[in-house]
Amino acid sequence: MDKIEIIGGKPLAGTIKISGAKNSALPIMAASLLTDKKLLISNIPSLSDIESMINLLQSLNVKIERIGNSISLVSSKPSSLSASYDLVRKMRASFLILGPLIARYGNASVSLPGGCAIGTRPVNLHLDGLRKMGVSFKIENGYVSGRISGRLKGAEIKLQKVSVGATENLILAATLADGKTTITNAAREPEISDLCNMLIKMGAEIKGVGTSRIVINGQRNLNGCSYKIMPDRIESGTFVLCVFGCSGTVILKNLNIEICNHLIKIFKKLVSLEFKILNKGKNLLVRKVKEKKICISLKTKEYPGFPTDLQAQLTSALLKTKGKSEIVENIFENRFMHISELIRMGAKLIQKGSKVIINGTDKLNGAEVMATDLRASSSLIIAGLMANGKTTINRVYHLDRGYENIEKKLKQCGAKINRLK
Ligand code: UD1
Repeated sequence: MDKIEIIGGKPLAGTIKISGAKNSALPIMAASLLTDKKLLISNIPSLSDIESMINLLQSLNVKIERIGNSISLVSSKPSSLSASYDLVRKMRASFLILGPLIARYGNASVSLPGGCAIGTRPVNLHLDGLRKMGVSFKIENGYVSGRISGRLKGAEIKLQKVSVGATENLILAATLADGKTTITNAAREPEISDLCNMLIKMGAEIKGVGTSRIVINGQRNLNGCSYKIMPDRIESGTFVLCVFGCSGTVILKNLNIEICNHLIKIFKKLVSLEFKILNKGKNLLVRKVKEKKICISLKTKEYPGFPTDLQAQLTSALLKTKGKSEIVENIFENRFMHISELIRMGAKLIQKGSKVIINGTDKLNGAEVMATDLRASSSLIIAGLMANGKTTINRVYHLDRGYENIEKKLKQCGAKINRLK
């Protein structure tokens, strides 16, 4: 199993190209199931989650070709409308095939994703919404089997809780439903807007993109299209936090103005960071200025709030800051697996229920640590870059699910980081 070895203590200086967004690419790839026409998607990041989605779609008779960082997808009727535990357990986003398969073929059977390191992560909101559209479900032997005779029916769906995945599954399904579907209390993440914009290019009629009320007028068929995936805002935010933790100046490339503004907003409490938007938002310069005492208190929230996907990295980035800070994790119940590993490196952290208290220390030392989930892994990288001496991170396959070439990108900025095979 690969490991990552870091010798910490160096400030960062250089340029980093941001990859396409994983959380946008996955639902967009699932949209290929809605049509028999060709989709050509560019800016696809090279990640193991993308491989998992490719394997899943290929098992459902989608012909996929890769050309550099683009892929083409053509979906024909599969012999079996079923996704096995083996394909779904690796990645929860696999559940996004349920809506499109039922919308196009009237039935599908998908393994329940089950729990994962960050919490129980149920799928009740996905199923409740599809039930409103006329689907009946049987849950047996760990599989959800959905069926409808004829087409899905447009419906008024109010999500009981804001959910990115449920919003996406229901939008995908509603594009082929009979009549109008209104989703209220919808999630507003930019990756959902990216999905909607591609569906609109495929001929879908969607209003309220980017708002919490999305209205979809179902179509009989959708077309193919070409589409470029948006930049990854979580990867970008992770590099901003690397600069905050290690000092230095880095230019993030391949962004857009919305992501630049979002990053500046969510990190505004980190007052020793300076940002400069360059090239109309395509690039963002991030610089750590003089070390200041920082005492922040924040809660993770749905977009446009502070993302849960950056909570672990922010915790690491604050470890050496003078002052006491608090972060409350509001989205997932168990997203603190990194804490015990960071404490082994000398971090002064206290967990109280859904809150972590960070007391800044100047004694952070390298150690052998273990990655437990995707974002916990990048938080260990940040801590390793900040620590004195050598940090070795085990189980980095978690990292490869969501960060393309992270060690190469950091190396280009002067970090002493290597992958051991
Ligand atoms: C997506 C992101 C993930 C991010 C998360 C929250 C992708 C591929 N993954 O995950 O990186 O951390 O959004 O921003 O885009 N919930 C229910 N019932 C459901 C569905 C969700 O109770 O049917 C709960 C979850 O347990 C969680 C909350 O709703 O507490 C938000 O989860 P959700 O937004 O659905 O996360 P994902 O779509 O799985």
